[in-house]
Amino acid sequence: MLQIVSEANLDTTAVPVADEQDARGRLIVGDARRVLAGFPAQAFHACVTSPPYWGLRDYGVEGQIGAEPTLDAYISDLVLLFREVRRTLRDDGTLWLNIGDGFTSGGRTWRAPDKKNKGRAMEYRAPTPEGLKPKDLLGVPWRLALALQADGWYLRSDIIWHKPNCQPESVRDRPTRSHEYVFLFSKSERYHYDVEAVRERTADGKGAKNRRSVWSINTEPYGGNHFAVFPTELVRVCMAASTPKDGLVLDPFFGSGTVGQVARDHGRRFVGIELSEEYAELARQRLASPKAPRRSNR
Ligand SMILES: C[S@@+](CC[C@H](N)C(=O)[O-])C[C@H]1O[C@@H](n2cnc3c(N)ncnc32)[C@H](O)[C@@H]1O
Repeated sequence: MLQIVSEANLDTTAVPVADEQDARGRLIVGDARRVLAGFPAQAFHACVTSPPYWGLRDYGVEGQIGAEPTLDAYISDLVLLFREVRRTLRDDGTLWLNIGDGFTSGGRTWRAPDKKNKGRAMEYRAPTPEGLKPKDLLGVPWRLALALQADGWYLRSDIIWHKPNCQPESVRDRPTRSHEYVFLFSKSERYHYDVEAVRERTADGKGAKNRRSVWSINTEPYGGNHFAVFPTELVRVCMAASTPKDGLVLDPFFGSGTVGQVARDHGRRFVGIELSEEYAELARQRLASPKAPRRSNR
């Protein structure tokens, strides 16, 4: 059963004992920075999340992360937010952070609405960060990863999420981008990682080997009006490695609720935070629909 709570009516001390209220999942509608600050320490086994990318999409809600005027401000907003996530993780907890990159705007300061993709319509484009040139790759994933490492996280793995079905790009002076990063961070030197749960098949298909750091996973179409969902299979692997059955997973950027769906389908509990009422409603509808077919019994 999903419980939906608005930030204003939140009794955050109740969050880690959500199961006592017969709720396997809770969705809190509000700004993750404020909501997290009210949570007790050591509550979650893992956080699996995908923050908004910088300057890429306008979710049209005040307080949204990703609309900062500078790249430095965006990185520092995320470092502060994930500091709170670290506090709320158990000492053996992990953070799985999916983050994509972008290019400098080359001096353009606005982007016209895209009729096919409403989420791409921005009232502005972020200015080219100091020290970068037009057409430069921003390097957001590594800037963020190193800033989080400097803030105290253990950076344990940089996973390449390879998208075999990536969008074509009309570029003629560089390869088409077909990957994003997923960083694995831990709170402590030793942490929960179920190596058996995430083994992958050997090339001859006869055995299993330790999971590699390049994951080829197709993006999944999602019918709702949200444009940055991550695939359920990607989330499933992160969750299988980092949570026991009935473990409690956090997603502070819940969007359409992919983390909630995977948690529900694989016997985990979840807490999602989402700023936009509209996306929270999408997540509610998604989580009200029947359970997806099971891929794994882990
Ligand atoms: C990349 S999307 C997440 C998509 C999600 N992983 C999914 O599969 O649907 C990022 C989400 O973060 C939300 N968001 C932006 N700023 C936020 C904030 N300050 N607090 C909570 N959510 C926020 C946006 O509304 C958006 O839905």
